Formats: sequence, structure tokens, C-alpha cells
Amino acid sequence: MAEINSVTDLSLEGDVAVITLNSPPVNALSAKVREGLYEGFKAAGANPAAKAIVLICEGRTFIAGADITEFGGAMAGPSLFDVQGMMENSPKPVIAAIHGTVLGGGLEVALCAHYRVAVPSAKFGLPEVNLGLLPGAGGTQRLPRVVGPERALEMMTSGRHVPAKEALAGGLADELVEEGKLREGALAFAKKVLAENRPLTRIRDQNEKVEAARGKPEIFAEFRKANARKFRGFLAPEYNIQTIEAAVNLPFEEGLKVERKLFGELMSGPQSAAQRYSFFAERTANKIPGIADDTPLIPIKKVGIIGAGTMGGGIAMNFANAGIPVVIVEQRQEPLDRGLATIRKNYERTASRGGITAQQVEDRCALITGSLSMEDSFGDVDLVIEAVFERMDIKKDIFAKLDAICKPGAILATNTSGLNIDEIASVTKRPESVIGLHFFSPANVMKLLEIVRADHTSDSVIATSMKLAKQIGKIAVLVGVCPGFVGNRILGQRQREAQKLVMEGAMPWEVDRVLYDFGFPMGPFAMSDLAGLDIGWVKEKSNGESIRDVLCEADRRGQKTGAGYYDYDENRNAKPSPFTENVINDFIVKSGANPRKISDEEILERCIYPMINEGMKILEEGKAIRASDIDVVWQNGYGWPVYRGGPMHYGDQIGPAKVLAKMQEFQAKMGDQFKPAPLLEKLVSENKKFADL
Ligand code: 3HC
Repeated sequence: MAEINSVTDLSLEGDVAVITLNSPPVNALSAKVREGLYEGFKAAGANPAAKAIVLICEGRTFIAGADITEFGGAMAGPSLFDVQGMMENSPKPVIAAIHGTVLGGGLEVALCAHYRVAVPSAKFGLPEVNLGLLPGAGGTQRLPRVVGPERALEMMTSGRHVPAKEALAGGLADELVEEGKLREGALAFAKKVLAENRPLTRIRDQNEKVEAARGKPEIFAEFRKANARKFRGFLAPEYNIQTIEAAVNLPFEEGLKVERKLFGELMSGPQSAAQRYSFFAERTANKIPGIADDTPLIPIKKVGIIGAGTMGGGIAMNFANAGIPVVIVEQRQEPLDRGLATIRKNYERTASRGGITAQQVEDRCALITGSLSMEDSFGDVDLVIEAVFERMDIKKDIFAKLDAICKPGAILATNTSGLNIDEIASVTKRPESVIGLHFFSPANVMKLLEIVRADHTSDSVIATSMKLAKQIGKIAVLVGVCPGFVGNRILGQRQREAQKLVMEGAMPWEVDRVLYDFGFPMGPFAMSDLAGLDIGWVKEKSNGESIRDVLCEADRRGQKTGAGYYDYDENRNAKPSPFTENVINDFIVKSGANPRKISDEEILERCIYPMINEGMKILEEGKAIRASDIDVVWQNGYGWPVYRGGPMHYGDQIGPAKVLAKMQEFQAKMGDQFKPAPLLEKLVSENKKFADL
């Protein structure tokens, strides 16, 4: 075995040269890796004893892509194209031996091998779109030549990881070899290629599939139309589509030029910067300063949930999906039965769309049992999550009982969306075991989990919760106790301004339109209609004091009653409502205010800047660890447009000084609700960015 460089070795097995790459964690194509590959292929090519070349990786995966940390800087050493040229033009057959994930630049390298073998657990993909990019190393031209333009459209605009079996069927892999025996399998394959004198297949020369789609622009038109909603606001999906059009309509080299040009535009634009930032923000959120990597974890083998409502049921599904048994406790049989039936219905709906099999429906339902007694059911659980009404007295009562029932060391969690968890913990004799696990509705779908650390929560409980979040497929952010925690506290700012704007002359649909155009899936009033205007509204106490009161009193309680802020037709399409407009105008007259025309710019700034300012207060108080954690919360829990990074990243894009100046201007006009956070002032005075915090 000869060392090529610190991450690459070359060995000879009979007449097959084996280049082994080992650059943890994911063998990303850093300068060192490119150098190793380039020199490795050169040396293997020059060795007359080597008749074929296998490229294989150590560690958990084949090459998972370009090294994202290198983006934006100058590239040192050989380029990816140099490496690819070495492979594709090699006079000796090159075989990529694939395990783990072969993604982005990794797949683009593999597509320059003459053959690809993989283990059955391997996954193939071009996920650049999720970083606001497109494959920039020939993948846009090679993938359609292998799988055809239609499949390439789907793969490149979704970034989906394609399982090995599907990759084999689609021509991405040439052979699957036994799991755990990749090296042997790849060597045997290489020998077969030599023995059978198989050709040096170059994907760039294979034109049948792209030529078959030439002169059929409807393929692209239909794809764009079918996905218009999904792609709204994003540049990268459209650019990916254009490169596939180029693959279909232009010779390979010309297609590469289109790829190069569009890749450059995306790479230097703000959307990709935001999406790359988000990639690392999500991963950084997992790192908790002060909690050591070897903090002992509490094994979670069984979970208890209190409340079989929408929230409790959704939470339970997360654990069943991960194979962890759950027992749900309700007070009465009827809501318990209803809750369990809803869970089954949800699973069956997923199965009917092909998401899971009928057997998986049964397996998961079997993992979720119901009970009417905490005493009978919670003695052996390792984690309990309370998901009942947001009332402190009820929660305290439950936690006092849990303290008496649960075994020592069990985690006692509340799903409160904003109540004081220290107060809840105070009724137990084990506040170190109490934590907030704030799921977002629908809890089986939404990715975000706010993990709320109370004053006494132990490191073990925090570390276990973070790990568990990953296990059940959530993106976790650790936050501190304060009203509304991080997400809802910031939301409160936007909601307040939205309501005020309406009283100053902007109609709900105008506010909604501005936020929708900014990139949110819907504005705050459409959101209220969807959630139900009557959440927290009590009919008996309603006295027409607010616009909401009047709407609810008129049975306009949102989409479910066919009307709320908006009127809805039978297909739930929203229309601005003259009724609501009258109600608002009456309120404005009563308040003696002078309605005015409010610009889109003001609507946006009034809604968004106070959110950024609140984020600064949260950081000042230590309720979030870092600015990027706030962005992770808002992207994954509140529909903040992915291509804008999150409120803090957006603040950096427009500039902290501008945010501060606007807050000062609003404060002077409208009062201290706009008072700038001292940390914002400090940041601006030091000429720093939010990302520097
Ligand atoms: N570059 C640099 N670092 C990377 C990386 C990459 N492409 N991919 C992963 N990492 C780092 C992560 O930041 C993380 O670092 P940390 O431990 O310091 O936080 C570490 O590798 C492990 O990553 P994960 O925590 O995500 O590990 P998982 O096992 O959960 O997932 C993975 C592994 C599926 C490979 C996932 O990391 C992933 O999806 N990576 C990105 C893949 C990708 O987007 N590739 C395309 C890159 S762009 C490109 O190739 C352009 C080309 O067309 C020219």
C-alpha cells in the first residue's frame, strides 16, 4: 500500500489498482481529496501492472459532495474537472465502489467512472438544489444521459436520495454487491470487466435518452407547471431545469457551459448563501457548549404521553415511527378512542399515498397503546410528555402526580408552548428531570423541536433529548425558559404589528400578500383562519371588544366555518371579505384613528424588523445560544422562507445598521414597542454582524 497523500492510498490487488480515500467525516471533495484523487489516478494509470482501477472510500460513506466549507473562496490544487478528466479518459476501466451516500460532487465523480458498483444500503443523489445550487461538475449533463430527462428533473429539483435498488434499475449503478463486502465485490466486478473486455463506457458519449426528449418542450413546461407552488420564490429549481433543457438541446460541451454559467450565478447570489448558511446552522444547533460529548445518555425504551388530542397523537406517531413503544393516557375512554382512531387514519392516509406499507401501518399502530390511568401505565416509562391544555394549574397537578408515579431518572417533559417550566418543575422533587419538548403542530409532520432547558434541567436530560430528537427525525434547538420561548416570542412581535397595521388602514389581505410575497407560505390572517379564530376564544365571555370577537360572534371562526378574516368558497379558496372590511372600518371609526394608505415596504418592515430586534433581546438574555439557532427555529417551525436564511441571517443581509435605524424611526413615531435591543445598538456601534455573535 502506497500513501498518495494524507487522505489517499493506492494499492495493487492482483492486476487491479485500488485507490482508497479516507477523509472523515464524509469524504467531501476538499483540496486534499482532489489532490489525492488526481495523483492516485495518475499513479495507477502509470503502473503497468494495474489493468483496472477501483475507487473506494473508508468510513461511513462514499464522497458526499464538494466541500461546502470551501465555497466562496479560491480553489486550491487540482479542480474537480481535472480529477474527472483523469477518470473518464483513463485507458484502464475505472470502477467506483459505493457505500453510504454518493451525493453531489461525489456522484458527479462516480459518473465519470466507467462503471459503478454499490452495496444495497447505498443512496445516490444530487442534492445541490437544497443548497440553492445546481450540480456544478457535469452532473447536470451526465445524469439526464443516464436516467433520462424526466427522472433527472425529479432528482435534481428534489435532491432526493435514491436507494441503490432504484439506482440499479435506473442505470446509475451497474451492479449491487453484498452488504459489507464492497471491496471484494468491486474487485470481482473489475476482474469481470477485464475478463470480458468490457468497453470503457463514458456517459458523456451516451446521447440516446437526451435525444429522445429533443423537440419535446412540453416535458419541461409540464414539470414547471406541476411544481410551480413548490418552487415558488426559489431560483435553484428553475436553474436546474434549465441545465437539463441544455442537456437535451445542446452538445455535451455546450451544455457544460450553460451549467457553468448558471452555477456561478447561483453560487454568488443571496439565496444559495442563505441555504448554505442554513445547512451549517442546523448542524451547529446540535452543539451545546458546556455539555460534553460523553455526557451519559438515558436509554429511552418506552414513552408515555398525556393527552390523546391532535398534539398528543402527533407526538406519539414520531416515536412509533422510530420503533419506540408509546402509551397514551387520557381521562376518558371516548377521547382516547378518538385519538387512537385518528392516529390510525393518519397512517392509513400515508399508506394510501404510498408513503408506508400496510404492514407498517399495523406495526406502528401496535406500538401505540391507550390507557385511562397514569398510575397503571407510567411506572416503567423512560420519558413522559405532557400534552394537555395550556393551563398552569392543570400542568402542575399532572407533574406532581408524575413525580409520584414515574421511576427515578425518567425524563418528565412538557409540551407547553410558552408556560414557565421552572414553575412546573417546582412541584416535583426532581426538577433536574424536567424539560420542555415543544413540538409544533402537526407534530408528526413539523420538523422543529424546541427543547427548553429549565433552571435545574440536568445535562444528561438535555443530551438525551437532543439525541432523541435526531432519532425521531426532528431538528432540535435548545432554548431557555421565557414567555413563548424563542419561536412564539418572536411570532408575538409579528402578530402585534399585523393587528396594528389593520387598525391603521391596511386590510388583512394586504398584510398577508406582502408576507406571502416575501416567501412565507401564508400571512398571519390566513394562518389564523386556518388554525381557527376561536383558539382561546370563549363565547360566554366574548363582548365584541376585538375584531376577532366580532368575527367569532358572527360564526366566522375560520376555514372550518367557511369564513373568518376571509370568505371561503367550497374549495377553501380565500377571497377578501366585505364583511370583515366593514368590521375593521367600524373599529377604526370607533377608535378615532385616521386610516391611511400603508406601503408594502412599511408592512414588511413593521412585521419583520421587530422580530429581528426580539431575536437580539433573546440572545441578550441567553434564551438562545446563538443567532443561527433562532434562524433554525423560524425556518423549521414557522415557514420562514428557506432562501432567506432566517430572521437573523436576513438581518445580516439587509444590514444591522439599517434594522437599528428603522427601529429608532418607528420608536420615535410609535413608542417603545420598537425600542431597539441594547445588543443591536452595541453590534452596530462595533460594526459587527449577527453572525459574529
Ligand atoms: N462539505 C463539508 N462538510 C460536510 C459536507 C460537505 N459536503 N457534508 C457534511 N459535512 C459535515 C457536516 O457539516 C457535519 O459536520 P459537523 O460534524 O462538524 O457538524 C459532518 O459532515 C457530518 O454531517 P451530518 O451531521 O449531516 O451527518 P449525517 O450522517 O446526518 O448526514 C450526509 C450525512 C447525508 C452526507 C449529510 O451531511 C449531507 O447531506 N451532506 C451534504 C451533501 C451535499 O449537499 N452534497 C452536495 C454538496 S454541493 C456540491 O457537491 C457541488 C458540486 O456539484 C460541485
